[in-house]
Amino acid sequence: MKISVLKEQAVGERRVAATPETVKKFIALGASVAVESGAGVAASIADEDYAAAGATVADRAAVLADAGIILGVQGPDPASLGGVRKGVWLVAGLNPFGAGEDGGRARVDAYAAAGLEALAMEFMPRITRAQSMDILSSQSNLSGYKAVLDAAHEYGRAFPMMMTAAGTVSAAKAFIMGVGVAGLQAIATARRLGAQVSATDVRSATKEQIMSLGAKPIFVESVAGIEGEGSGGYATEMSEDYKKAQADLVSAHIAKQDIVITTALIPGRPAPRLISDAQIATMRPGSVIVDLAVEQGGNVEGAVAGEVVERHGVKIVGHKNVPSRLAADTSALFSRNLFNFLSAFWDKEKNAPELDDEIGNAIRLTKDGKVVNERLLTN
Ligand code: NAI
Repeated sequence: MKISVLKEQAVGERRVAATPETVKKFIALGASVAVESGAGVAASIADEDYAAAGATVADRAAVLADAGIILGVQGPDPASLGGVRKGVWLVAGLNPFGAGEDGGRARVDAYAAAGLEALAMEFMPRITRAQSMDILSSQSNLSGYKAVLDAAHEYGRAFPMMMTAAGTVSAAKAFIMGVGVAGLQAIATARRLGAQVSATDVRSATKEQIMSLGAKPIFVESVAGIEGEGSGGYATEMSEDYKKAQADLVSAHIAKQDIVITTALIPGRPAPRLISDAQIATMRPGSVIVDLAVEQGGNVEGAVAGEVVERHGVKIVGHKNVPSRLAADTSALFSRNLFNFLSAFWDKEKNAPELDDEIGNAIRLTKDGKVVNERLLTN
């Protein structure tokens, strides 16, 4: 079984889908690994490091020739996969609901037409045994951390309270909206930097998590939120009553905040709008908002993907592809997710992986020339 690792081609993508560590582990399983030349450079991994781990390093055509499994961070342009055999697995974050040219349904259709078996790692079910295969968690975790550093970078003041001979610097007040994986890490990071942290979510289960990290929960009490965890632990669209109560609560709280980090997402839907322009206008000039959902439509009015904009003296940070901004670490975690996935299903006799239905049906987008995934067929 030949595993092929591609150099990412999407603009701004610095990550890579295998590291020397996972190359060695795949070889120990019985596979051979070919890595496209330069694939790891932007994540601080040299071609020589892959070669030393036992991979063949070559140009794209040679890497793709006889491939059995193709690994990527994002889905490759189908036109760049010429000559690939039918039935080959493509394992990557395929962004099937994406609107941009690096994802979306048209691309999935093209993978089907090429006869590929496309496996979308972001569709991995959130079940205990798949936790170590979950690219959304591993990448969101570091995004939450980086969002706080990006906020600190743009903020013209300090995070911690400091008592100096020249006087006292007061602690920054940080508010985290959306307490999933990224939000929890943002709370922890902002606390470590010395900010006074508060946080909110629609899922009531997060209240305890917020408190256990030493932050203050800010919750809508008048209208029911989502008790416990919604389906797969995810949020759903909230009622109009809830949205109104949430907007009132946020309006009162946000005017006193220096830093706001928004991470709220609803799977398969545009990100919920959490902060309006009028609310931004109540914030102190020099405050910073980081919108981690900017590429899914944005939680913050006026946020622009790929830009830092200023509204009413408040900076709104909308960096694209935040995981790529920490490419060495996010690549290491992403690569382990892929290895954990493939190795869990590896059939030693066939020297190939064999998926079970629970995970296979969840992540398989295409097979035998057709789109087969329930979530795509019903969308
Ligand atoms: P996500 O990225 O889909 O959403 C981020 C957060 O935004 C969520 O906490 C969501 O409740 C919140 N949100 C949505 N609409 C909102 C609104 N209008 N206002 C405020 N907040 C809003 O979520 P993520 O990070 O993927 O985690 C979702 C859940 O899945 C968590 O409970 C997490 O612990 C769980 N999880 C379970 C795993 C497993 O068992 N294998 C692995 C990873 C996460």
